[in-house]
Amino acid sequence: MITDESIQLVKDTARVEDIVGDYVNLRRRGQNMLGLCPFHNEKTPSFNVNPSRNIYKCFGCGEGGDPIKFLMTLEQLTYPDAIRKIAAKYNIQLEEKEVSQEVKEERQEKESLILVNEFAQQWYADQLYNTDEGKSIGLSYFKSRGFRRDVMEKFGLGFAPNSRNGLYKAALASGYKEEQLDKLGLIRNKKDFFWDRVMFTIHNLSGKPIAFAGRILKKDVKAPKYVNSPESEIYHKSDVLYGLHQARGMVRKLDNVYMVEGYTDVISLHQHGIENVVATSGTSLTSGQARLVKRQTENVTLLYDGDKAGIKAALRGVDVLLIEGLNVRVVILPDGEDPDSYMQKVGTTAFEEYLTKKRRDFLFFKADLLLEEAGDDVAARSDAIRSSIATLALVEDPLKRAGYLQQFTGRLGLEESLLVNLVNQAVADRREEVKKEQDREQRRRERNARAENAPGLPPVRPQRPQRPNKKDIPPPPTEDRWAGMQEPGFAGAEPPPAGNDDYAPDWGGMDDGGWAGMQEPGFDDSGGIEIPPPFIDGQVPEMPGKDPLKEALLFTGHTFQEQDLVKILIVHGSKLHDEETNTSIAGFLTANTADILGDFDSEQYRKVAVLVADYVRQHQQGPAPEWYLNHPEENIRQMAVSATLSPHTMSPNWQEKYKVYLRQKHPTENHKLYAENFLRIFRMEKIDRKCKDNIRKIKEYEKGDDHKKLVLHMKLQMKLDEMRKALAAELGTVVLGK
Ligand code: UTP
Ligand code: MN
Repeated sequence: MITDESIQLVKDTARVEDIVGDYVNLRRRGQNMLGLCPFHNEKTPSFNVNPSRNIYKCFGCGEGGDPIKFLMTLEQLTYPDAIRKIAAKYNIQLEEKEVSQEVKEERQEKESLILVNEFAQQWYADQLYNTDEGKSIGLSYFKSRGFRRDVMEKFGLGFAPNSRNGLYKAALASGYKEEQLDKLGLIRNKKDFFWDRVMFTIHNLSGKPIAFAGRILKKDVKAPKYVNSPESEIYHKSDVLYGLHQARGMVRKLDNVYMVEGYTDVISLHQHGIENVVATSGTSLTSGQARLVKRQTENVTLLYDGDKAGIKAALRGVDVLLIEGLNVRVVILPDGEDPDSYMQKVGTTAFEEYLTKKRRDFLFFKADLLLEEAGDDVAARSDAIRSSIATLALVEDPLKRAGYLQQFTGRLGLEESLLVNLVNQAVADRREEVKKEQDREQRRRERNARAENAPGLPPVRPQRPQRPNKKDIPPPPTEDRWAGMQEPGFAGAEPPPAGNDDYAPDWGGMDDGGWAGMQEPGFDDSGGIEIPPPFIDGQVPEMPGKDPLKEALLFTGHTFQEQDLVKILIVHGSKLHDEETNTSIAGFLTANTADILGDFDSEQYRKVAVLVADYVRQHQQGPAPEWYLNHPEENIRQMAVSATLSPHTMSPNWQEKYKVYLRQKHPTENHKLYAENFLRIFRMEKIDRKCKDNIRKIKEYEKGDDHKKLVLHMKLQMKLDEMRKALAAELGTVVLGK
């Protein structure tokens, strides 16, 4: 082991500009130096070297640290190896001290465990390729799955025969210790742990076998499909990604990694030329795994099965990856396929096309999924948006976050200011939460320290020291941007001297987190959110409830249409619809909406419709605009003012959906036709929605055993279908399958 003095000497000698300069072309820029970042692809330099502090930082990708960290990251060296490399560069003679017996033993133990696993891997391979049993069962199985020999060898595939002690005996005969076989989980009670299974080797980053997985071949057996090695000194499941060793080169080169669920998915994609792929091995993605990939690339594409479990796993994975600062995209395969099966089915070209076409940024993946589930239900929609926004709030980089948000706003058709506010709130909530957790942790540590010092008290189990995560604590605006960027607990981490403000590169308006100018001027933070005005002149009638998101959502859906109905009532209601029968437009509209009043989303518009129906019944004619303008209720008076000022609006959705029927004369000249067409579409929309709800109910009842209810809803469905067809015929639209 290198002595502390030698390490100090290396640290004092190493100049960041020398070390970095070996890899990066650096140009002077004032007191600092600038170059193209070696850790990510860029065309304009954002990689800064600060000689006076002896540190570097990339303001593009966030990588930063001291000379040792630079070598460790770039060359994937261990700490002592980085020290050795620097020592060689500066001709420093390193003093090595005797390693403590304990450390030495631990290292030797790990090395010897790996040797045992290497033996086992060879033995399993030998069984697969060179025994009759292995060839006829294992090899033919792999062949039936289309695996090529070279790929099988690359991944260390093998076969564990049916005998219960083949490996046990062979290992002992070759001089391996029973205790170690036991520790590795290769044997249990003097019997082989894996038998009658095809074998997969799990490697560490440098390609050493650290664990195994065995897949059962028989179907209809209760035993699990895969059994995996237990945790051991050399195998910590949550810090391993299957295939990372084999994928590493390509991941770096393509600067993107696909994450799949299964061992066979990795192998199959490799064989078909997609080599930047790793597997989480069926468990949910851990932060350890996220950090592991982050050392290779920042760009992760989750490629999960198209079943419910796959989608759920993807949703969870997204958050874990975002917290570690990765860029996340998601591709969901067609239902029933996994990457292996789909690749075998369609081939590389079509597979890659599918990936390019179907991959979506995490935010839209999540939002689309949840919104689709929510259907028309306003409360569920608002939950879906909130949940998506909570995920967006995990994106630490304010510029990226703002970019996503902008797209998101466009997609939802909601006011940007409303969403900005929600995101800010979510970011603040998250900071608060992280801070609370850290405080709790701090108190725990203090308690434990006290307990340890208090004689006579039983010792408290020490908490595993938590690696403080720089991502968790967003820096306050005034903080030194270099602070906290070195790996905490890292031997070379000395806090850079404070107060060297001249260093900070021009970060523009980023000190406020990049949110400058994103809020609407005059926007009231205190909770009084601007609701999109229901009427053009901005006279906002009071809305019940306090949830601004729900209210905003209300106005994007049916409420908008209900508002239009009221507007037509106000402006045209007193005119005649049918001269022969002396029916007013108001009479016509209220009579034909009476049966769907219960389907109104907006309480206030429903109320207006009811009042007008009453009026028509009493007076045999529709109320004139003055009736609304002088109505005792403030609310209605306001609607009247707005409606008379801007009599003609139409839901933007409708213009898209029912183009033909809205290409007509201005309603003031043609109120009759306008009211008729409006009514048809209005009813169609409500009936459509009812159909959807009803079909959902039918599906539920089909699962249960309430036969009566099922029949009832099926009858209702028939009736709704009839109404739909009739309306569609009038509208001239084709009724598409429900
Ligand atoms: P899958 O059931 O999707 O299997 O589990 P697979 O990888 O597609 O395998 P094939 O194609 O049927 O041969 C996905 C991953 O979950 C883990 C394994 O890592 C597997 O690759 N798993 C699954 C287990 O660890 N144990 C199990 O019993 C099942
Ligand atoms: Mn599979």
